[in-house]
Amino acid sequence: MSTILTPELTAHWDDPTSFLLSSYRRHGGYQALRKALAMEPDQVIQTVKESGLRGRGGAGFPTGNKWAFIPQGDGKPHYLVVNADESEPGTCKDMPLMMASPHTLLEGAIIACYAIRANLAFIYVRGEVLHVIRRLHNAVAEAYEAGYLGKNILGSGLDLDVVVHAGAGAYECGEETALLESLEGKRGQPRLKPPFPATAGLDACPTVVNNVESIASVPFIIRNGAAAFAALGTERSKGFGIFSLVGHVTTPGQYEAPLGTTLRELLTLAGGVRAGHRLKFWTPGGSSTPILTDEHLDVPLDFEGTAAAGTMLGTRGLQIFDETTCVVRAALRWTEFYRHESCGKCTPCREGTYWMAQILTDLERGAGSEGDLDKLLDISDNIVGRSFCPFGDTAVSPAVSSIKYFRAEYIEHLRIGGCPFDPAASTLFAEESAR
Ligand SMILES: Cc1cc2nc3c(=O)[nH]c(=O)nc-3n(C[C@H](O)[C@H](O)[C@H](O)COP(=O)(O)O)c2cc1C
Ligand code: SF4
Repeated sequence: MSTILTPELTAHWDDPTSFLLSSYRRHGGYQALRKALAMEPDQVIQTVKESGLRGRGGAGFPTGNKWAFIPQGDGKPHYLVVNADESEPGTCKDMPLMMASPHTLLEGAIIACYAIRANLAFIYVRGEVLHVIRRLHNAVAEAYEAGYLGKNILGSGLDLDVVVHAGAGAYECGEETALLESLEGKRGQPRLKPPFPATAGLDACPTVVNNVESIASVPFIIRNGAAAFAALGTERSKGFGIFSLVGHVTTPGQYEAPLGTTLRELLTLAGGVRAGHRLKFWTPGGSSTPILTDEHLDVPLDFEGTAAAGTMLGTRGLQIFDETTCVVRAALRWTEFYRHESCGKCTPCREGTYWMAQILTDLERGAGSEGDLDKLLDISDNIVGRSFCPFGDTAVSPAVSSIKYFRAEYIEHLRIGGCPFDPAASTLFAEESAR
């Protein structure tokens, strides 16, 4: 494990003009593109494979393998779609990346398109983030002007257009097939898989869908070689990643470090939990990942370490909560989010998240009974593995994991007939838990 930060993607974010092409070039930007264009496309794919880069959008699928699935010589157009939807509570790495260094993403996207032989790429951004969309538009215009986009890029024969597409702001549109539906102008609901996007994606053509950070990691890999990336991280989780620390932490922010870094190490860098307080619970990767507690400070934050601890690496959106937070209320708020964002296509998720939010509302006010906890777990069992897309599996994470670690706190709500963290109700439990 390392406590040393590895600022690569975030290296120049404090440069006030880091988003401009001139700054990006001053820091070595677009050198990787020149190097990639001198390689064979398959060599580029092989390099990304050898680097061990795994998708930074949550699922951790090997990026090079995904690119290699794109059939060649099929006579169809190929597409790259960058998933910049980033709508999950607690997840906040892609938006700052695109704000501070949109050209890192563009350079990665051009290299990816060269590798998979695509002539059209889309960046699908959540519509509400107008400031990010504007910045992307400016970067794309600068790239056309400089000859990094358009016809015969840098004399290589590659033609490429990039379209920045603003979505309408639905969490489910981050799911890759729902995103493709949305991009085609349809309702943002997921498709049955297979076929996977690599064979039948956008307009039924071979499509790579990759997260912003996955694509933005590619210039480093090409510029420095696969080995330089693979030298960082752990055995099966290679490279660096952006860890976003938010909530009850002294210095919230983006900490770029090798995968496998622990929360204890990150908290040391971030000045610890806010003064006078102690860690109660946290999410390793956004609200979809089951919560952990202060017993898990040394869990390696890589794909394997988090799985062994019963959770997931997810998007490394680390939400930190101290002992003043009611875990039942937190689980309720997250579940309300999932109820609201459920796309409604399948019954277990559409109905189940609605029921769960209702039961949690009662529990948080101290109404209901202990049997409601079993009912919550039973409903969760009927959502997990029975829903149409992975949304359902993750929507139950807050309730199930909070009951696992904090059943006593749920019972205390019932015992006092209210929330022990609410000043209007008994503060007994809050005092107890602060000790
Ligand atoms: C409900 C839901 C929301 C998702 N939201 C995002 C998102 O905002 N950004 C993202 O990159 N991946 C998101 N994903 C994962 C994508 O489906 C897909 O796995 C990812 O974009 C692939 O990119 P990667 O291999 O580079 O990680 C989401 C998945 C689900 C089920
Ligand atoms: S699990 Fe079902 S209802 Fe929920 S988002 Fe996916 S398809 Fe829609």
